[in-house]
Amino acid sequence: MSAIVVDNLVFEVGGRRILDGISLELETGQILSVMGGSGSGKTTLLKMMIGLLRPTSGRIVIDGEDTMQMSEKELDQARLKMGMVFQYAALLDSLSVYDNIVFGLLRHKKMERAAVDKLVKHLLEQVQLEEYVARQMPAELSGGMQKRVGLARALAMQPSFLFYDEPTSGLDPVTSLAIDQLIMQTRDAFQVTSVVVSHQISSVFRISDRIALLHKGKMCISGTPEEVKASADPDVQQFLQADNITLTHLQSEKN
Ligand SMILES: Nc1ncnc2c1ncn2[C@@H]1O[C@H](COP(=O)(O)OP(=O)(O)OP(=O)(O)O)[C@@H](O)[C@H]1O
Ligand SMILES: [Mg+2]
Repeated sequence: MSAIVVDNLVFEVGGRRILDGISLELETGQILSVMGGSGSGKTTLLKMMIGLLRPTSGRIVIDGEDTMQMSEKELDQARLKMGMVFQYAALLDSLSVYDNIVFGLLRHKKMERAAVDKLVKHLLEQVQLEEYVARQMPAELSGGMQKRVGLARALAMQPSFLFYDEPTSGLDPVTSLAIDQLIMQTRDAFQVTSVVVSHQISSVFRISDRIALLHKGKMCISGTPEEVKASADPDVQQFLQADNITLTHLQSEKN
């Protein structure tokens, strides 16, 4: 049984078709990267998979359960096993980093203060932030730091599914690489099924088991990295060649 099945998904708003017949499947513990130009529907697809937006038609099946058939309450329950790292960190401004990280967790689980302290310290380490950051407020952090706090918050819930919306955009190359490694480690250690929206082709080819390319709300191609690279579709090639230098680098890395 696939962990995620998206079947002929359509989303329309204000008479506009934002997603048009998207289908894909992802096995447990795999990483899918969703690529595509700005406005192609990547964030919308992610929000739909996590149940924050309801499709106009089509099906989304998570661990064998059709989310379209679920009540809001059942969706809330299902969402506990899904973490989302938002494109714009979406932290609560009035709470410290510490409280942001454990906010969701403590609503569902009782924990001793010492255990929470230890967890926050561990999570900050994982996302390469220093311990003192825990005491800071979101407004005191750079965009990249906020992003990593958002990631720490998602990891705190130990989800079975993780959805990342551009987790590395705007980060320096070294931190980007560390986040890529963290995404792969999280998959390997906990069999987390992950969907990553990314513009960075080098990163996509490094971390993905599957790649999907969206173009104006339609699926241009979906397959393994090898299949995508070998595609003769001009739209696919154009997209990949936009980052030609990175691809050349990737090929020389393999040799
Ligand atoms: N709730 C909504 N109401 C109206 N239009 C929407 C809504 N959500 C998304 N859209 C539109 O759907 C299209 C796809 O948006 P989406 O945010 O999914 O793109 P994206 O691929 O994530 O782009 P980016 O790379 O810039 O983040 C856009 O044209 C956007 O204006
Ligand atoms: Mg987006």
